[in-house]
Amino acid sequence: MKALILAGGAGTRLRPITHTSAKQLVPVANKPILFYGIEAMVAAGITDIGIIVGDTRAEVMAALGDGQRFGAAFTFIPQDAPLGLAHCVLIAADFLGDDDFVMYLGDNLLEQDLGAFVHSFETARAGADPPTAQILLKQVPDPQRFGIAELDKSGNVVRLVEKPDNPPSDLALVGVYLFDCTINEAVRAIAPSPRGELEITDAIQWLVDQGKRVRCELLTGWWIDTGKLTPLLEANRLLLEKIETRIDGKVDDTSTIDGRVVIEAGAIVTNSTLRGPLVIGAGARISDSFVGPFSAVGDGCEVVNSEVEHSVIMERSKVIDIQRLEDSLIGREAVVSRSHLRPRALRLMVGDHCQIDVE
Ligand code: TTP
Repeated sequence: MKALILAGGAGTRLRPITHTSAKQLVPVANKPILFYGIEAMVAAGITDIGIIVGDTRAEVMAALGDGQRFGAAFTFIPQDAPLGLAHCVLIAADFLGDDDFVMYLGDNLLEQDLGAFVHSFETARAGADPPTAQILLKQVPDPQRFGIAELDKSGNVVRLVEKPDNPPSDLALVGVYLFDCTINEAVRAIAPSPRGELEITDAIQWLVDQGKRVRCELLTGWWIDTGKLTPLLEANRLLLEKIETRIDGKVDDTSTIDGRVVIEAGAIVTNSTLRGPLVIGAGARISDSFVGPFSAVGDGCEVVNSEVEHSVIMERSKVIDIQRLEDSLIGREAVVSRSHLRPRALRLMVGDHCQIDVE
């Protein structure tokens, strides 16, 4: 079994961060989103991993290396333009060969591990009526916003519809799919959708229409498509919920710590209050500040005379003299500061290298 992880795409919904950076490398709980998917793959025993890369390929490849540090081997597959999820399968043909594979959207995060999902496909493949594909579904309250599956009485997929006005079910397609090599034929057979992309839903529908069996499994844990700000902060919150306290940095006597916190080596906390769950990155400096629950302060950041809560601050950024920063995503090497006193909470999405001076 191989894996195909999709780490290209346009990332329009996460601008301005994605003007300069890959959305899959935005950190949640101080770790790039993409790393969670790769680690889940390796934990499921899959180490031969193809990675689709787009415009941000240099950054993604530099962050990932050859796979050794994850215990995997990576094959990077460049995609010239984001022409759709099924297009990714099409251009990965040489890498995939005739092998079964897991396709994983690099900006998705799942609570559950992938092992059981992979195992159930392998078991079904060895059975009497082997499926050619298996999709993962999650019940959602707002099916109009998702790709939705309709099932028959025995639980096989009969129809997939994108963002339906009249949803046939409340079962949304999660960004993890299992395929045998029949999908290679499917992606060659379909035509681009009205939005100009080769859709994976059309390819799976093609399998169904050819009389192939498409199995599904229901996901019980949380699943987040982090492609937008609010779900990204939600993913950060859910992952921070699980951290255990570890203090490798320095906290002075005038500071107080409540709840579970991770303070990485080289971080210095002075005259501040930290209320977890939160993480403070390596070499960060927190002084005269309050850092509240569900904050992830990246490596080398500075938070000075400020209040921060429920926010992701990426590496080497500075937050200075800000009364209250909440529900915010601050890019890398950005500066958010204030020149006049104004007691107001800020909710910001700040791109890399920006300088914001609140007057
Ligand atoms: P999407 O979030 O569906 O698409 P996108 O990245 O273009 O984002 P936006 O809608 O904000 O513009 O993509 C899901 C994942 O698949 C994501 O990790 C990007 C990746 N992807 C590719 O690698 N190639 C593609 O052609 C597409 C469409 C997505």
